[in-house]
Amino acid sequence: MNVFDLTGKKILVTGASSGLGRQCAITASQYGATLVITGRNQERLLETFGQLSGEGHRWLLADLTRETEISQLVDLLEPVNGVVYSVGISDLSPARFIAASDISRTFDVSFKASVLLTSNLLKRKKLVSNSCSLVFISTISTRYPFVGGAMYISAKAALEAYARVLALEMASKGIRSNSICPAFVKTPMLDSTAENYSREAVKKIEERQPLGLGEPEDVANAVVFFLSDASRWITATNLILGGG
Ligand SMILES: NC(=O)c1ccc[n+]([C@@H]2O[C@H](COP(=O)([O-])OP(=O)(O)OC[C@H]3O[C@@H](n4cnc5c(N)ncnc54)[C@H](OP(=O)(O)O)[C@@H]3O)[C@@H](O)[C@H]2O)c1
Repeated sequence: MNVFDLTGKKILVTGASSGLGRQCAITASQYGATLVITGRNQERLLETFGQLSGEGHRWLLADLTRETEISQLVDLLEPVNGVVYSVGISDLSPARFIAASDISRTFDVSFKASVLLTSNLLKRKKLVSNSCSLVFISTISTRYPFVGGAMYISAKAALEAYARVLALEMASKGIRSNSICPAFVKTPMLDSTAENYSREAVKKIEERQPLGLGEPEDVANAVVFFLSDASRWITATNLILGGG
């Protein structure tokens, strides 16, 4: 018996049109899961869809900052055995330049979207009791912050706190909730951070990471563990990936 096997499990992945979400979907499908993938960009979402192994997968477009679109997405779902929350933006700014609109933009995507999606899933009984694992992609930066990351890191810290409360509230239903906190990984988000802010700063962070930059597969493998029955006795945790 392979305890990492995801055969028979239906998994929803947000942020599946790019980077970590895309790889989590691909790897989960290789372990036998049936995927529902979501994102905003149809072309890139279809690229992910084309790379999934097996059959029976679905793709659904949704802007998760819009409550009506969350609601439509949840309407179209059958109950799932797991959700990977990879939706996020990296909007960086020195503390003195942070405006109210910046806070809303970051928190709407990196916190509120996942929280409202979850309440919708719970209210409409779309999480399978006694067989469901929720995996939130946070960041190692909640432990080891970097200059300019106040909004991004605060939103992720809030998400981790939310995931732990959720774990307590859902334990009696057999629904687990955990966060994964990766160090910097080679994805389009990292490329745009380097481009828009500072290549030098990203290089410095890379040098600080004991195991160097991660590959999306390094995150996806840990996500598979949390989705699988191998982690059935693990909830309310935060797993750091990539060193301290
Ligand atoms: N890369 C890293 O080094 C790293 C390290 C630690 C944690 N993380 C976290 O891991 C997650 C994924 O990061 P990534 O590197 O894969 O980033 P990415 O390549 O930029 O992907 C971000 C994903 O979020 C989706 N998204 C953004 N706004 C959305 C919205 N309003 N509604 C629905 N979907 C939306 C994007 O969809 P569309 O493109 O279709 O709009 C895209 O699929 C993020 O939460 C990030 O904070 C990343």
